[in-house]
Amino acid sequence: MNSTIDTILSHRSIRKFKSEPLKQAQLDIIIDAARASSTSSYLMAYTMIGVTDPDKKRALASISNQSYIEENGHFILFCGDYHRHMLYASDKEKAVMAQNVQSTEYFMIATVDATIAAQNMTIAAESLGIGVCYIGSIKRDLDLVNDLFDLPEHVVPLFGLALGYPDEQQEIKPKLPKDAVYFENSYKDDPSHKDVLAQFDQTIEAYYRTRSTNKRTDSWTNQMIKTLHNERNNRLTPYVKEKKFNNR
Ligand SMILES: Cc1cc2nc3c(=O)[nH]c(=O)nc-3n(C[C@H](O)[C@H](O)[C@H](O)COP(=O)(O)O)c2cc1C
Repeated sequence: MNSTIDTILSHRSIRKFKSEPLKQAQLDIIIDAARASSTSSYLMAYTMIGVTDPDKKRALASISNQSYIEENGHFILFCGDYHRHMLYASDKEKAVMAQNVQSTEYFMIATVDATIAAQNMTIAAESLGIGVCYIGSIKRDLDLVNDLFDLPEHVVPLFGLALGYPDEQQEIKPKLPKDAVYFENSYKDDPSHKDVLAQFDQTIEAYYRTRSTNKRTDSWTNQMIKTLHNERNNRLTPYVKEKKFNNR
């Protein structure tokens, strides 16, 4: 249809990068693409931290259990951030602001702003032939990430983006069909919803069975039942609250 749509529809996560570092001009332009994003109330409630220090990359690779982060490519940590918003406030103003940003709404705004910026960066990067993989597993040790990057109060790490020139060919991973994720005028939870998922299970089973790497026998619905049996990160809730987010 056009090259932007082609780029978006060709997305696949890349987890193996060439040793060639990203060109500075390309890095600058993808940072600009992130900065150009829509943002709630003009807050731009996020910060990106590019990680070039080999020791910090090694630590991130270990925390997230993804060795390629240490080996090659670039890494950008995306954080929700209301620190800068208070820098010009008086003590009296800051006291009120510091209370208000602890609402669930401000927490959501920060995560949404950071995510939109990251996805704009992703599309820009992929359009330049750079592969990316989001890394949520940095949350496996939030306290260490916090210390590694000197994150102040009102700044929380959300996820990372590993970027580099692809050194692997990955098939495109099938996604839920339109009938499963797009409804009109109301949520449509009739029996057809389950039928669409059953059909998708067949698609994803064939994909897992035939893809070139990490072949497996699994369906999407089964995978989701297993995934949502994981309690996930017990430390996240207190950590976020300690950083003065999502307390009200
Ligand atoms: C917020 C977020 C966090 C993710 N965290 C990880 C991660 O820690 N490790 C990883 O290998 N992939 C991670 N991924 C990539 C997903 O596994 C991947 O996007 C999904 O399986 C779909 O595959 P695709 O990106 O190739 O289409 C993450 C994706 C998102 C959006």
